[in-house]
Amino acid sequence: MRHFLEIDELSTAELTAVLDLSAVPDPERVLEGRGAALVFEKPSNRTRNSMEMAVFQLGGHPVYLTDPEMGIDRRESAQDVIRVLAGYHAVVAARVFDHGVLERMAEPDAVPVVNLLSDRAHPMQALADLLTIRQVFGGFDDLTVAYVGDANNVWRSLALGCAMVGVDSRIATPAGYGPTPDDLARIAELGGSIEVFEDPHVAVRGADVVYTDVWTSMGQEEERQARLDDFAGFTVDSALMDEASDRAVFLHCLPAHRGEEVSDEVMESARSRVWTQAHNRMHSARGLLAWLLGPGAEA
Ligand code: CP
Ligand code: NVA
Repeated sequence: MRHFLEIDELSTAELTAVLDLSAVPDPERVLEGRGAALVFEKPSNRTRNSMEMAVFQLGGHPVYLTDPEMGIDRRESAQDVIRVLAGYHAVVAARVFDHGVLERMAEPDAVPVVNLLSDRAHPMQALADLLTIRQVFGGFDDLTVAYVGDANNVWRSLALGCAMVGVDSRIATPAGYGPTPDDLARIAELGGSIEVFEDPHVAVRGADVVYTDVWTSMGQEEERQARLDDFAGFTVDSALMDEASDRAVFLHCLPAHRGEEVSDEVMESARSRVWTQAHNRMHSARGLLAWLLGPGAEA
């Protein structure tokens, strides 16, 4: 049984198939008359809405479930939760604090499990990011993505995805917030090129995509003040965007904290593709589900 906990669980050919399916507005209705459980331990705008609409477009019925109802590992274990949900639903997708919970949900192979964001990864976001990059540039050839900020869940899935499709990546982080040796090894194993910088101006120079995410992710609220201090100087503003290539676009997974990781001016600029990117979450969610529950994943 196939699950989708991180983007590099797909082969590059499978990733391409998912992106191609994402561009199809009416793929086979693989969820006709079936359920999809969407479990959220944290808040969401894009992920919940895009998943609910994708499930609907595939003929299925989404059931939104929150932490107080589910109480994963408090009311019952992740393994018991999934065995029960598997009797009602064709797929279970979850946003969790601890990535290990998703791994234990996938363990019994009771039903395909999809990661809707964990502390480690956000592969559904990376699909929309790659779809957006492919739409903007017409392909993945000769592109460099410069990510400015925390080497977090969003960065990890994006960097792995870029490595898979041959997009060069760079990251600029303050000391202590960069990729782990394991991150770099995984990217290298995928044949990817990654450069790590502490100066955002150097990282962004000539890049085609400038990407950022919040400095304080959900679950890190107690570190907020320290992070605000540590990330000073890492705001993506117009001066930084001017260092990028002439064709450069700005991406952000959102929600954005304007005035922190990105300026208002960049968010509203002609280079910003953040709304297209957010709307692509629905198309890529539909593509992923159509692939995962269709014949592609069985091949
Ligand atoms: N980008 C993203 O996952 O947004 P939400 O947290 O609103 O779902
Ligand atoms: N890194 C952020 C992404 C939100 C979509 C977080 O985990 O809160």
